[in-house]
Amino acid sequence: MSNKKKSNEMWGGRFSEKSADLLTKINSSIDIDKRLAFQDILGSKAHVEMLAKMNIITKKTKTKILNGLRKIERELIDGDFTFDNNLEDIHMNIEVRLGEIIGAEAGRIHTARSRNDQVATDFRLWIRKAIEDIEAEISILQVSLVEKADKNIEIICPGYTHLQVAQPVRFSHHLLAYVEMFGRDLERFKQTKERLNECPLGAAALAGTSFPIDRFYTAENLGFRAPMRNSMDAVSDRDFVLEFISDAAITMVHFSRLAEELILWGSIEFDFISLPDSFVTGSSIMPQKKNPDAAELIRAKTGRVNGALLSLLTVMKGLPLAYAKDMQEDKEAVFDVFDTLILVIKISQELIAKMKVKKTNMYNAASNGFSTATDLADWFVRDLDMPFRQAHSLTGKFVELASEKKIKLSELSLSDLTKIEPKISEKVFQILSPEKSVESRNSFGGTASKEIKKQIRFWKRKLNA
Ligand code: ARG
Repeated sequence: MSNKKKSNEMWGGRFSEKSADLLTKINSSIDIDKRLAFQDILGSKAHVEMLAKMNIITKKTKTKILNGLRKIERELIDGDFTFDNNLEDIHMNIEVRLGEIIGAEAGRIHTARSRNDQVATDFRLWIRKAIEDIEAEISILQVSLVEKADKNIEIICPGYTHLQVAQPVRFSHHLLAYVEMFGRDLERFKQTKERLNECPLGAAALAGTSFPIDRFYTAENLGFRAPMRNSMDAVSDRDFVLEFISDAAITMVHFSRLAEELILWGSIEFDFISLPDSFVTGSSIMPQKKNPDAAELIRAKTGRVNGALLSLLTVMKGLPLAYAKDMQEDKEAVFDVFDTLILVIKISQELIAKMKVKKTNMYNAASNGFSTATDLADWFVRDLDMPFRQAHSLTGKFVELASEKKIKLSELSLSDLTKIEPKISEKVFQILSPEKSVESRNSFGGTASKEIKKQIRFWKRKLNA
C-alpha cells in the first residue's frame, strides 16, 4: 500500500514539494513506534466512542470506524499489516489504513485530537502494561530467592565489607537482602504506574479543543484515574518516561551487583557456587574454562539502561512547552530498556534457581579471616565488663598473634590467651565458631536463624498476596 503522496495527504495541504528522503529518514519513527499499534487502536476506539456519545460524529460513522479498527487489529495480529516509512509513525499508518478500508469517513477519527495527545496516551498505556510485566517477572525472581533462602538456612558464608571477610552470615540472609532490594524496585515501579495513570487524550495539539468532548469518559474507558488537568502539560511532559527509565536503572544496578557476586562466587578463588552449564560458556583456546558470560552481560547491560536515562534526560532538558519532535526519541530508549530489563530478570531467575551452592567451601571461608574477632571483642565487653574500645584493641592483639601463628582465633590455646589477658576463661571458646557467631546476632534484621525465618515468613506472606 501507500506512497509519498499519502504522507502529504495527512498534513501537506500547503506543501508544493514532497519530503526529501533524508527528512523521511530522520523523521520517520514507524520502525520503532509500531510497538504502540495496539495501544493506538485502543485509544482511537475510546476516542471514537466518546465522539459519538457527544454527538460529534454519528453512530453510523462510529460503527464504521470501529469495524475498520477491528480489521486493522486483525491484520496486526496476523502480521498482515504493512508499515510504511513515508507515513512517519504508527498514528498515521493506522489512520491511512483506516481510510483504505472505510473511505474518507476515516478522517473523522482525528476530530478533536492531535497526534500530540494521541502519542502521549498511547505511550502511557504502553508503559503501564510494561510495568505490569516487569512486576510479574520480578515477583517470580523474589519467590525463587526466598525459596533458596528457605532451603539453605543452615548454610553459613562469609559476610564482607570492602570485600574483606567481615563476619559470618547465613547465606539465606545474603539472598534475602536482594529480595528487599527488588521489593523496593517494585514499589518504585508501582508508584510510577500510579502517577502516570492519568489521561492526556483530548488535550489535542496543546490548547484543548472547541468540540464538546468528554475527557472523563475517555479517561475512564482507558482505565486511567482521571484526565490530565492541564492540556499543555499533558502533551509536553515526559516525566513518566524518565521515571520509568530511572526505576529500571536503579533495578539494573541491583541486578549488576547480584551478577557480580555470582561471577565472584563462581570463580576458582571463591568457589562458593557453580552456575548451570546452560548459562556459562567455554573458551575457544582454554579447555578448562567455564565463563559466566550471562552474568557478565547482565552486569554490562546496566550501562545501556543508565545510558538511556542520561540520553532522555538530555533530550528533555531545556525543551520549551509544549510538544516538540525531540520527544519522539523517547520510544526507542524505553523499548530497549524494557527488553533489556525483562531479559535480565528472566536470566537471573534461571541463574538463581539453578546455581549449585557449595556449602563446605562457604563454611570454610566463613571460618577464615578471623571472622569471629568481633564476637571475641563482644565477649570481653559482656563477660569481662570491658568498654568496647578497649575490647577492640585487646582483640587486635589476639588477631595479630593468630596471624603470626597462622592459625584461627579458635585455635589459640587458653595459655596464649591468658598471657595477654589473665581474666579470660575457657568459656571464650564457645563463641568463636561461625555457628555461634551467626546465632548470637539475633537483633531485629540480624543473621540469626530466628530472624531469618521471620524475614522468610514476611516475604512468603507478601508474595502470596
Ligand atoms: N511520532 C510522534 C512522536 O512520537 C507523534 C507526535 C507527532 N506530533 C507532531 N506534532 N508532529 O512524538
